[in-house]
Amino acid sequence: MENLKRLFENNRSIVAEVTQADPEYFARRAGKQEPHFLLIGCADSRVPIETLTGVAPGEMFVHRNIANQALSADINVLSVLQYAVEVLDVKHVMVCGHYQCGGVKAAMGDQSYGLVDYWLAGIRDTVRRHDFELQRIASSEERFKRVVELNVLRQVYNLSRTPVVQGAWSRGRRPLLHGLVYDIHDGLLKPLVLQVDGNDKARELLETPRASIGD
Ligand code: CO
Repeated sequence: MENLKRLFENNRSIVAEVTQADPEYFARRAGKQEPHFLLIGCADSRVPIETLTGVAPGEMFVHRNIANQALSADINVLSVLQYAVEVLDVKHVMVCGHYQCGGVKAAMGDQSYGLVDYWLAGIRDTVRRHDFELQRIASSEERFKRVVELNVLRQVYNLSRTPVVQGAWSRGRRPLLHGLVYDIHDGLLKPLVLQVDGNDKARELLETPRASIGD
């Protein structure tokens, strides 16, 4: 109960602090939301992307699930995507993975975890598809990091294949797709692939080992 109480106390003191500096802060944001970003991230509690990127309420539309999946049969993420692209007209759709992702780790092992195994099946498939590359990474820690990155790239590719993104691109519209990884050791976001704006670039996603930052 102490922890829960702390949430309400923090909430009141943060609101008091913010409104003292800017009395209209919340009132201004209560109207229409016009976010520039959709973030698809992992549910992991160590990944507070909104806090660490300094976005204000109304700037980032967010969907989070275990291991930041964008699965073609997941009505939840597809609905979020459709609303973000077709109604909110977000410019940037970002998939953000993170190192030390428990979901990715679970998918790399042989142990069964019950229901969540179904959710993680796509990552197992990614591991299998990239077996050649992964087997050549001697360090198990580096291999783990690489699977985190490959998982992000695959989810960006998955997004590119959705009817929502295909439809937008065919009309010459945004969004731009981006793949990022968050390093929980130092708090920094690293771009893996940026500005995927069409099918040619999307096709390269699963073949290019690493995209350059300035891309
Ligand atoms: Co995770």
